[in-house]
Amino acid sequence: MKVAIIGSGYVGLTTGTCLADFGHQVIGIDNNPEKLAKLKSGVSPIYEPGLQELITKNIAAGRLSFSDDINLAIKESEIIFICVNTPPKTDGAADLSFVEQVSHQIAKALNHDHKIIVDKSTVPVKTAEKVKETLLQHSVSQAKFDVVSNPEFLKEGTAVKDTLEPDRIVIGVDTELAKQKMLELYQPLIIKTKAPVKIVSVRSAELIKHGANTFLANKISFANLMAQICEEAGADVVEVLDAIGLDDRIGSQFLNPGIGFGGSCFPKDIAAFKKTLETLAVDNSLIEAIEKINQQAVNRFIQKIKKELWALDGKKVTILGLAFKPSTDDIRNAPALKVIDALLKEKAQIIAYDPQAMENTKKTFPQIQYAPSAEAAIQGSEALIICTEWDEFKKFDLVKVKQLMTEPIIFDGRNIFKPTEVEKLGFKYFSVGR
Ligand code: NAD
Ligand code: UGA
Repeated sequence: MKVAIIGSGYVGLTTGTCLADFGHQVIGIDNNPEKLAKLKSGVSPIYEPGLQELITKNIAAGRLSFSDDINLAIKESEIIFICVNTPPKTDGAADLSFVEQVSHQIAKALNHDHKIIVDKSTVPVKTAEKVKETLLQHSVSQAKFDVVSNPEFLKEGTAVKDTLEPDRIVIGVDTELAKQKMLELYQPLIIKTKAPVKIVSVRSAELIKHGANTFLANKISFANLMAQICEEAGADVVEVLDAIGLDDRIGSQFLNPGIGFGGSCFPKDIAAFKKTLETLAVDNSLIEAIEKINQQAVNRFIQKIKKELWALDGKKVTILGLAFKPSTDDIRNAPALKVIDALLKEKAQIIAYDPQAMENTKKTFPQIQYAPSAEAAIQGSEALIICTEWDEFKKFDLVKVKQLMTEPIIFDGRNIFKPTEVEKLGFKYFSVGR
């Protein structure tokens, strides 16, 4: 099938590349010239394990190309994905201006050939109806199209794997034709993975996405609440949550306490969902609590650092991990940024290291130092602060780490070490909920 992907970011690029790999003819569109130049030369503008190889393979096979000619891409494609960003507005509501803009562009390019317009961006319930209205108002009369909601559940850092091995495929449709076309599109994946396909109403599909993200964020905030309780009660949150998670009804995933959830999705989607609840006159206090505990998680960590290090002015502190999670270069809403901000206010001398996210962080914090390796960042440090649980940090030779530091103090925001083992080596060790 011929597919156009409007918006070639984390979701659009991964989706488009994987669809090309299933054998479809895919054209990726983006209006960011810098990104597009890289894509046209076959280079992924983002770091996602396995993505570069798939892009190279599918460009070579002639199934994947990139352009800024949205008009031509729509005219030539049967299925058009909207994968643009839906950032938060200042009041937390989803800013749908890019979705609207693209809807106008699609409307102008519609003709009498039937098109399936698929919304993959994360949007509040009833957005597809707005897209449909816009298409009807601004397209030629008798333009033939269906609007589908096909939410995306991939995680950054494992985007390709999540796309090739989905837990489920959710398709919100209101016509039989749209259902059949979407099933045809995903057929190679359905046959290969036997992933359950949920054909639902468009509104349900939109709510499944916001509901799933809110539930996952809820689990994390619950873990962080338990961490607070364990710190005050003198228990070990890892022991507590490990046992709680063994109940099949609860499950152990997304129960890791730390310095809170960040990223481009949970914070904004939860805020947008809260706005939806307000619009629907449904009580949103559960969501407010999720957000509040998430703020407390990073704030408590910062307080721990300030309390222990006392006068931070001029103190050399090392921050390891800048990305909002491992295996990505994405720093959007990364808790590490809040830690850096707080320490800069105290005039600490910060040296940071991250395996992938330093280039992005330099744009926000040009005033701190960046080291070429973890070892270089730790050299001469008076405190080691871990904000992201990259594998290479978990594998540290702690004896060597201690030799490199002038003061053996570790603040571990992701609980990557065992307290007894670190303390045995002579470190002062502060982690979360233990
Ligand atoms: P992104 O910012 O990485 O990518 C969006 C892309 O759209 C950008 O490259 C931007 O230049 C492009 N764009 C914006 N307006 C455009 C226009 N008018 N024409 C052409 N291109 C345009 O965002 P993302 O992380 O890929 O997220 C996209 C959507 O998917 C969001 O709604 C997000 O919530 C959702 N989502 C993201 C993830 C994730 O892990 N990143 C997972 C699931 C869902
Ligand atoms: C999240 C969801 O997991 C995806 O299913 C969803 O598609 C995506 O949002 C989206 O809608 O955009 P992502 O933000 O890429 O994916 O990454 P996660 O692995 O969910 O991590 C989000 C944040 O939660 C990170 O800061 C991570 O450190 C934190 N987290 C995660 C915890 O603090 N504890 C956990 O147990 C799990």
